[in-house]
Amino acid sequence: MNIDELNQLRQVACETAVAAGKLAREMWSQPRHIQQKGFRDLVTDADFAAQHQITQTIRAKFPTHGFLTEEEDSELPESGPVIWIIDPIDGTTNYSRNVPEFCISIAACMPQAEGYQPLAAAIYDPMRQELFSAAKGQGATLQIGDASPRATAVSTVDSTENAVLALDWSSSADKRTSILELVAELMHNSFTVRAIGTAALAMAWVAAGRVDTYINLRLRPWDVAAALLLVQESGGAVTTLKGNPIVWDVAGMTCLVSNGRLQLNI
Ligand code: IPD
Ligand code: CA
Ligand code: CA
Repeated sequence: MNIDELNQLRQVACETAVAAGKLAREMWSQPRHIQQKGFRDLVTDADFAAQHQITQTIRAKFPTHGFLTEEEDSELPESGPVIWIIDPIDGTTNYSRNVPEFCISIAACMPQAEGYQPLAAAIYDPMRQELFSAAKGQGATLQIGDASPRATAVSTVDSTENAVLALDWSSSADKRTSILELVAELMHNSFTVRAIGTAALAMAWVAAGRVDTYINLRLRPWDVAAALLLVQESGGAVTTLKGNPIVWDVAGMTCLVSNGRLQLNI
């Protein structure tokens, strides 16, 4: 894919993420219709509305492309030369409780035998009007409001005792037990530990050098795809806890997102 094509994907990812963010923000102050779709797993009317708006816009521009979306939609094609991996609202629990930490995550990916190669990505935080975006080999930027986009870079923190670590609790009891064991270790060795409640945004913050590491023991492709490219294009890495390449799995994958300089020994 040439640079013009990559930039076109990035542009569409950005435009659709910002438009969906505007919608989520408009619906923010209205009464929410909230459903429990699984164990400790919510979906709101805004998640469905944002996803529908995003996929309609992308389908109109790229009729041959496929989709992998968090919310089920049997009308969306699953295969194509490019797969759009979409989390219409990442941080739904926060959103449903009016905690202003959530984002829209959109990635255009090349399907591969063992997963996806993100080509272009956008993550938008509508409450702060912060737009993170990247295209493969072109770097990553953060645009705040109407200001000019600025290149993002991971932090230079290289000692665990100075590191601000972020993580999230998974829904399952066994994963929570594992995370508690990690926290017991890291809490005493690090500067501090944050739980943010939106994996994609926390990873974008690693890309922007705001936090040094993010850990999650069960992420789905739509939580990871866009942020993976942002982090890589900002000089960081997304791996398993042992530092190996992530294993794409719609059922869930373990991710350690880092600035590439820290040895956490976990
Ligand atoms: C969740 C958030 C949360 C993470 C969960 C995700 P959702 O996504 O990213 O931070 O801990 O694993 O499922 O449900 O809000 O889109
Ligand atoms: Ca998510
Ligand atoms: Ca979601």
